[in-house]
Amino acid sequence: MVMPPQHSGTESPPPPPLPIRQLTGGGGRRQNHTPPPDARRRESVKTLEGTETFHNMRDLDGNMTTCGQSSSDELVFFVNGKKVVETNADPEMTLLTYLRRKLGLPGTKLGCAEGGCGACTVMLSKYQPDTQKLLHYAVNACLAPICSLHLFAVTTVEGIGSVARQLHPVQERIAKAHGSQCGFCTPGIVMSMYSLLRNNPTPKMADVEEAFQGNLCRCTGYRPILEAYKTFTVEGGCCGGKGRENGCCMTNGGAEEKEADVDACSRLFNAADFAPLDPTQEVIFPPELMSLSKSQKPRSLHFCSDRTMWLQPADLDEFLSLKWEHPDARVVVGNTEVGIEVKFKNMLYPVILAPAFIPELHRVTHTDEGIVFGAACTLTQMGDVLKQAVDELPLDQTQFFLAILEQLRWFAGQQIRNVAAVGGNIMTASPISDLNPVFMAAGCKVTLMDKDGSRVVPMDDGFFVGYRRTVLRPQEILLSIQIPYSRKNQFVSAFKQSPRREDDISIVTAAMSVTFAPGTCVVEDARLSYGGMAATTVLAKNTAAKLLGRCWGEELLAEACSSLAEEMTLDPSAPGGMVTYRRTLTLSLFYKFYLTVLQKLRGQGLNVEEVRSDLLSATELYHHETPSSVQIYQEVPQAPNQNDVVGHPMMHLSALKQATGEAVYCDDIPLFENEVYLALVTSSKAHARILSVDSSGAERSPGFICCVFADDIPGSNASGVKHDETVLADGRVTCVGHIVGAVVADTQLHARRAAKAVRIQYEELQPIVTIQEAIAAQSFYQPIRTLQKGDLEAGFKQADHILEGEMHIGGQEHFYLETNVTVAVPRGEDDEMELFTSTQNPSEAQSLVAKALGIPANRVVVRVKRMGGGFGGKESRTTLLSTVVSVAARKLRRPVRCMLDRDEDMLITGGRHPFYGKYKVGFLKSGKLVALDVSFYSNAGNSHDLSLAVMERALFHMENSYSVANVRGRGFLCRTNLPSNTAFRGFGGPQGMMIAESWIDDVAQSLGWPADKVRRLNLYQRGEVTPFNQVLDQYTLDLCWDECLSRSRYQQRKAAVELYNRQNRWTKRGLAVVPTKFGISFTATFLNQAGALVHIYTDGSVLLTHGGTEMGQGLHTKMVQVASRVLGIPCSKIHISETSTQTVPNASPTAASASSDLNGAAVRNACRLLNERLEPYKIKNPKGSWEDWVKAAYFDRVNLSANGFYKTPELGYDFETNSGRVFNYFSYGVACSEVEVDCLTGAHKNLSTTIVMDVGVSLNPAIDIGQVEGAFMQGLGLFTLEELHYSPQGVLLTRGPGSYKIPAFGDIPTQLTVSLLRDAAHDKAIFASKAVGEPPLFLASSVFFAIKDAISAARAESGITGPFRLDSPASAERIRNACKDRFTKLCPPSDPGTFRPWSVQV
Ligand SMILES: Cc1cc2nc3c(=O)[nH]c(=O)nc-3n(C[C@H](O)[C@H](O)[C@H](O)COP(=O)(O)OP(=O)(O)OC[C@H]3O[C@@H](n4cnc5c(N)ncnc54)[C@H](O)[C@@H]3O)c2cc1C
Ligand code: FES
Ligand code: FES
Repeated sequence: MVMPPQHSGTESPPPPPLPIRQLTGGGGRRQNHTPPPDARRRESVKTLEGTETFHNMRDLDGNMTTCGQSSSDELVFFVNGKKVVETNADPEMTLLTYLRRKLGLPGTKLGCAEGGCGACTVMLSKYQPDTQKLLHYAVNACLAPICSLHLFAVTTVEGIGSVARQLHPVQERIAKAHGSQCGFCTPGIVMSMYSLLRNNPTPKMADVEEAFQGNLCRCTGYRPILEAYKTFTVEGGCCGGKGRENGCCMTNGGAEEKEADVDACSRLFNAADFAPLDPTQEVIFPPELMSLSKSQKPRSLHFCSDRTMWLQPADLDEFLSLKWEHPDARVVVGNTEVGIEVKFKNMLYPVILAPAFIPELHRVTHTDEGIVFGAACTLTQMGDVLKQAVDELPLDQTQFFLAILEQLRWFAGQQIRNVAAVGGNIMTASPISDLNPVFMAAGCKVTLMDKDGSRVVPMDDGFFVGYRRTVLRPQEILLSIQIPYSRKNQFVSAFKQSPRREDDISIVTAAMSVTFAPGTCVVEDARLSYGGMAATTVLAKNTAAKLLGRCWGEELLAEACSSLAEEMTLDPSAPGGMVTYRRTLTLSLFYKFYLTVLQKLRGQGLNVEEVRSDLLSATELYHHETPSSVQIYQEVPQAPNQNDVVGHPMMHLSALKQATGEAVYCDDIPLFENEVYLALVTSSKAHARILSVDSSGAERSPGFICCVFADDIPGSNASGVKHDETVLADGRVTCVGHIVGAVVADTQLHARRAAKAVRIQYEELQPIVTIQEAIAAQSFYQPIRTLQKGDLEAGFKQADHILEGEMHIGGQEHFYLETNVTVAVPRGEDDEMELFTSTQNPSEAQSLVAKALGIPANRVVVRVKRMGGGFGGKESRTTLLSTVVSVAARKLRRPVRCMLDRDEDMLITGGRHPFYGKYKVGFLKSGKLVALDVSFYSNAGNSHDLSLAVMERALFHMENSYSVANVRGRGFLCRTNLPSNTAFRGFGGPQGMMIAESWIDDVAQSLGWPADKVRRLNLYQRGEVTPFNQVLDQYTLDLCWDECLSRSRYQQRKAAVELYNRQNRWTKRGLAVVPTKFGISFTATFLNQAGALVHIYTDGSVLLTHGGTEMGQGLHTKMVQVASRVLGIPCSKIHISETSTQTVPNASPTAASASSDLNGAAVRNACRLLNERLEPYKIKNPKGSWEDWVKAAYFDRVNLSANGFYKTPELGYDFETNSGRVFNYFSYGVACSEVEVDCLTGAHKNLSTTIVMDVGVSLNPAIDIGQVEGAFMQGLGLFTLEELHYSPQGVLLTRGPGSYKIPAFGDIPTQLTVSLLRDAAHDKAIFASKAVGEPPLFLASSVFFAIKDAISAARAESGITGPFRLDSPASAERIRNACKDRFTKLCPPSDPGTFRPWSVQV
């Protein structure tokens, strides 16, 4: 049983200046200057006396002096086996900051600072003297205060293995199985897996999936990570190559899928190559720490900084005394709530009480009434105890335990559950707490205590007295909670509905308990408790009262629902929005409970109505199945040159370093001497004139160095792609997040605090926030693009039917795991500036920085080693930060660094454009389309940026893959007061195609035909011409379609879905097959060029540079493969160090999926030149080696450096004349998806997806399949999950993983098949390959339309047929609201315009 001890403290990311640190070897002599317990007690009391006047000691900047002159205790912990003695521990410093900044261990990454991404996962270990056991568990270093780590061992990714030393199998396997793309999430994933294996060397797949509930990856689509780690599990443990006739058991399954293809291969890695896991070889727990832990007696600890004091009392008495003396003190256990408050809500807690040493708060006691948990018991510990009780006790006693376990299944991720305390959840008193509803429904009692005694209080409707307030008095603490056994004839259920199933906060959460008079179905007692329906967890008392004395049956149900609809009301403007949905959920969840109880009563032989078989699926709890997958690609024949690895599934070249934490990202670059830190000052208004800026508060802040405002810009303040933005606002702000200025200070923490002290006065102007507001105000950027072909009027005349419709597609946040970061280093002479920045577009960064600094571009060098993801978000918006940082560096003539916090990054940098489409479509009785008139409106935001190009691509994809003779598409760019929206994988294509799929679905619905029939009927034929007059030659979409249908067994599946839907009323399945045709080229013709520079050194090693940047997509790996083939040498001789403006000038951004095509051709051309130069030496010495030829050429004074250049031929389109070639070629693909929708909650399960993708002749099938799966999962987020919420005033409300949900491990389709189309050679790109980065993203719309199909089946049950509008994403809210039924009728929406909504559709 894992019983992690507790943490406590508050959070603060940056390091204090001049750290005092001692890193000694494990055997270092213990230094203990701590006085004996009694003396310590006196000292802490004395200190506390000195702080009695805390609140009077707050200076103007909110700074505190907490500790007076008294010094802190020594904090002793071990990191990767080495002892750390910190004599100056800052209670606000997190472990993550300490590791990265003070110990120089940058392997552990910062992705969000709020416990929501897992990038910072490390393992904590502790020796427990009482049980004599070692505990190991994963935690989020971003929330763990260092002060909570006394006598802990911390293991980071660097501590378990390295490329240079020896890889740990966990590191090796994720890399070799292609589970690391950009690699920013990888160390965290490695550490989650490592922690699991330390506790359980032979886990089940379910354990692996549970271990990853708190980890996110934005690149891989998760499948390869699971595949890699399946090799450790009992289900998937590798046979070492002996298990099957054809080789290893781990050559990812699916034999039946591939049997038909002679040269088809599904082996992306060979598990037989993997080093075995040997648990005996693990890093040992430091012996010194073991003896320290054994010998230390409980004693109080005290750490303090200038603002905060951390007190860790030795016993309960001391704890109660301290709380008495400091009623405002925060009790901190897991810090998962307090840490968030400090970091994101600007809270300052001068005194922290950490009860980690107090046995009474960690005790678990079994009594006659139930189980009593000490308030500091962690959720993991509580779960383990309850599981054991469920196993051992009769079922009727453990109903509440089961309900709690059900809630814990979906409560955060394991890293949080390992440290978060049950008491923390109760006392936070969040209205959406998942446990409090169960505690209330169970009638739990809590013991509250102060130094004068204790009282026992029931958790009823009197316990929560207001938003985040309870009856606890300031001097009291929560000692424990008693969870009672359930009684005979008592039935309990708990429900949680959240946007994402895993690691998400609730929309509505509920627990229900009903007790019947013995032997009857007459209700004796009932408690219905809801979260998410008021400012506190509430009991539906009126409804519960109405149930008393009633028989459990249809009449009771009807009355309960009407009563709940009246009792569980919400103001239409309620925070959190989704008001109609939340109200409906209260009824739907009760209905589920009703059916569940009815079934149980019936099971007990009572005379109640039988639950119809078609209703039963409504009672089933979500059952997760481990996904299975197949990847199929065509194996390349063995090339004559053994070194030729083109076409082979070669591992990403940085994968191993990424898995060990050795790969260097921008913020991992060690601090420069004299370096300072910058924090941005941004607008809080969407549209306003700036009246005044007062920076005096910042100037008084500790560590302040200078402010930077528009006046400080030496060059031009005009910035952005179209130069219509400012580097720093000048008198006016046009969005929330508009950068007004910056503050530079000695540390990150000081810079942030100072930036917050800058006061800005505004005169507010009316903002335009939504597309509809922009349309009403005719607020558009010019030009308004039109793309037209054929005769629209004649087309509509010819049509038998005309239908009109509309659709809104929400925006999307890039959520690259690494946020924007820049380090600007002035070179000291000639105004030279060197920039290390996380950008897809070094050339633009160079040019805009030069412009802002007023210097020529040749003085600015931009260097990019790698990015932790980009997805288009780092194409143009990175210059927002790099220009400001450069201006500051220039002003100070010192290196300046800034890495945006996740919330800042989300606020400032924009995302995918929201689109609204209006369409009119004409078609014949035969289903053939004849006319289409569509208008697109995109929410461009406060500047042009790339919006025109995005809109053009939407227009170029407005018919998706369907032939329509007469078309007109118009594109309007709405000028609004949102942060400028920008490039995002697909670049408008997905929005254009989505609206196409909406109208084709409408056509099918109105004809009453299956949608696949209408799609296939209208699918382009080879040689047809697009609306922009491009002939579809080398066309493969029909082949993809046929293969997809056969691989997915579409017809059988369809029959099974229909049968399922006939048999189930409240769960419905849906199926959809969707094609995509994606044009490859930059639509701005001039960008279709690339350069490469190849140097051969005299030892034969090759340094390769090209204009593309590496953001995880494997571009560098592919380029090395290309160079290796052309030069005829092994990849190991070729190295790519970085992308830099000083090696390849004027490079186009790494975007438009075209980077392999363009840079690959440039690399090939450079290598060919070198080959030509080496040829004479090869002829002269045919038996010589590469090194011989190189040396010979060198001594012969041959230039061994070559520049390659490539431009895509025959491109150039003109909108005016609708002529000229837009795209070099098209990438094609088809996907078929099946889903299951819970019509009562709107939740859905992704049951299966089959993708067939034409990537030409793949350069690297592992990378290409990785791109297909990663893009698909990102599209899945776009179309089914990810929702940005903006207030009517244009304030972004979703600013982190807590509120913005990207797909997690659990969202992978249960069955996933990816097949790269075979025999798909073409002649347009390097070695007949095709672009793959963006095209597959749209295939995720098959999941959206499968959901729509399922909703149609649900609506049909209520007698509603025909087309209906479903906006994207198909969130649980939208799904539930669209499934009209008796419950939705009871909760009608308020009339729009009669209230001010919490969020608006932008
Ligand atoms: C990423 C993430 C995911 C989350 N997911 C969920 C979720 O799915 N469902 C959910 O309900 N919550 C969720 N939470 C909220 C949070 O994890 C829980 O509320 C947790 O139980 C808090 O425990 P803690 O020990 O970390 O609290 P802390 O942050 O240490 O303390 C929280 C509060 O409780 C008070 N407190 C703690 N112990 C005592 C005591 N003994 N006496 C008096 N006051 C006390 C503290 O003073 C403080 O105000 C999530 C949080 C994060 C960061
Ligand atoms: S950085 Fe810690 S969980 Fe995201
Ligand atoms: S590889 Fe996981 S976030 Fe990039």
